Amino acid sequence: MKKLITLISAMCVVWAMQATDIVMLQDFESYNIGDSISMKNIYGSDFSASAVVCIDPRDSENRVLHINCATWNTLVNIAVSGVSKEELFGENTLLVYDLYRPATDGNYKQLMIYYGNERVYIDGSFVSQGATERWLTKSYNPYTPAIESETLSIGFNSNNCEYYIDNVRILKDIDFGFDYTDKQQSLRHYATLCGKNIGVAVAMSDANFYADIEDSTKIVTRTVSSQFNMVVAGNEMKFDALQPSVGQFDFTNGDKLVAFASKHGMKVRGHTLIWHSQLPGWIGAGSEGTQNNNNYTREQLLAIMERHITTVVSHYKGKVHEWDVVNECVSDNNNEILRPSIWKDVIGEDFIDSAFVYAHRADPEAKLYINDYSVEFSGNNKADRYYTLIKKLKNRNVPIDGVGMQSHLYVGSVDSAKLDANMKRYELLGLECAITELDLSLPTGQFGLMSAYEAQAADYRKIINVALGNTNCHSVLMWGVCDAVSWIPGFTGYTRGEPLLLDSFFVAKPAYYAVLDALKSGAGTLAIRHTSSPNHEDAYTNVYNAMGQLVGTNMNVHDIHHLPNGFYIINHEKVIIR
Ligand code: XIL
Repeated sequence: MKKLITLISAMCVVWAMQATDIVMLQDFESYNIGDSISMKNIYGSDFSASAVVCIDPRDSENRVLHINCATWNTLVNIAVSGVSKEELFGENTLLVYDLYRPATDGNYKQLMIYYGNERVYIDGSFVSQGATERWLTKSYNPYTPAIESETLSIGFNSNNCEYYIDNVRILKDIDFGFDYTDKQQSLRHYATLCGKNIGVAVAMSDANFYADIEDSTKIVTRTVSSQFNMVVAGNEMKFDALQPSVGQFDFTNGDKLVAFASKHGMKVRGHTLIWHSQLPGWIGAGSEGTQNNNNYTREQLLAIMERHITTVVSHYKGKVHEWDVVNECVSDNNNEILRPSIWKDVIGEDFIDSAFVYAHRADPEAKLYINDYSVEFSGNNKADRYYTLIKKLKNRNVPIDGVGMQSHLYVGSVDSAKLDANMKRYELLGLECAITELDLSLPTGQFGLMSAYEAQAADYRKIINVALGNTNCHSVLMWGVCDAVSWIPGFTGYTRGEPLLLDSFFVAKPAYYAVLDALKSGAGTLAIRHTSSPNHEDAYTNVYNAMGQLVGTNMNVHDIHHLPNGFYIINHEKVIIR
């Protein structure tokens, strides 16, 4: 419990404006060390597992529950007799607990939650449960059961796991800071009016997104669909996901995402066709993507590349608006342009040309991007080497349309002038730009500080303003929907985090309001220019001209494009069309 009080007070410092109710279901403080908590096998079978109250491995004053489990489908019972079903499973309620796994606990586990005999949550698959040897806060958005019960049962579906849990609680009536049913409180509404794409990456392990993708009541699905008009798969369209065995393509999750986007009038970014990382084992490139363990010749590897790109891009023809064709090909070493990789080393530097040509042949309408990190600010060595490479590609008529700047940045590092200069030099080459993987991380020491969130908000605002000021920049995408699912903590060895617009419980941070505000001002003052097809069916409900005459209702982007230049009021916003 001690730990939770610290957590609540930390939340108060940060989120004084929110009144989120925390109802503790079980913190194990009233038990004696050594007491057992009952467990059950969901099929009623005999099992080999134990749940025993013990001392927190990290805090000698705190009691927690230690679970050892050697039988599948065996969960811990948490009594919830005093709490009503409505309270437990309200629309804006998350079930939260703290999880600690020793280093010996294997990574890929599936969490299940039952209410009596009814399953109310299951991870879509066996997913990474996060770091070991540290307490993590896990939160879940269960569905509402039909039955009444007095027991929640929680645990991993595994016959080989050991873990600790504490502070099983619900956060009820969460004030997310925006009403997802009100378009005027959404990033996508104003981005669409600005003619921009505002996007988000969603991955398999992110709040069960792919499992719950058809359930519009889920907090994650309704947040993604209400706030964004573009999505990108965090991992599900990478080479290893789409072609796990040679010649065997698996489009299951990619197709789910495309269907979700189509249902909600959103565009899809495809990420990514050719990369040295997240390659399937059968390619034999090793963990760094630099080996050629199958001794492929240039011709053989080109054939592999052609087959992959052609199959994938053809499958998504007309459905994926733009592709990251080549990802992270530029070296981090200032003395060379391209990084070593199986692609570069076996095929040669023209692997990039081939990749773009194969993609263009498969879908001539798709926008084709190159994408990289640390390339955002003109004058930075890597940014300048990226530019040189792209200029050469353009000069030899490689079918490249755009330049992706990943933008995994630190708060405090955003230089608007250099970002602006960078976008402008690509415009001179006739290229689009996109901020493809934005996150602005804080060092752990600054977690919870309002001043840090304000600095972060200021950086987000700068980036949106530069994007709005450059007509060749069509899209800004966040690399994750909320802080809980960000890749940054794991990637930085838990030294940085909290980089996104929403906190771990989907609550809007100052960064969210800064982006909303920047887009709102943009919608009021910017011309609509490159609104190719945001396809937000009800974005232009009421369109008035400067005389206050209604010139159209329920107009689509095409109609808007054909209006005479001038000043309009569209859905209560001032817009100049020119
Ligand atoms: C990251 C994902 O977010 C993680 O889930 C995964 O474990 C590793 O890859 N640059 C990219 C993205 O182009 O594909 C990476 O995504 C982040 C860095």
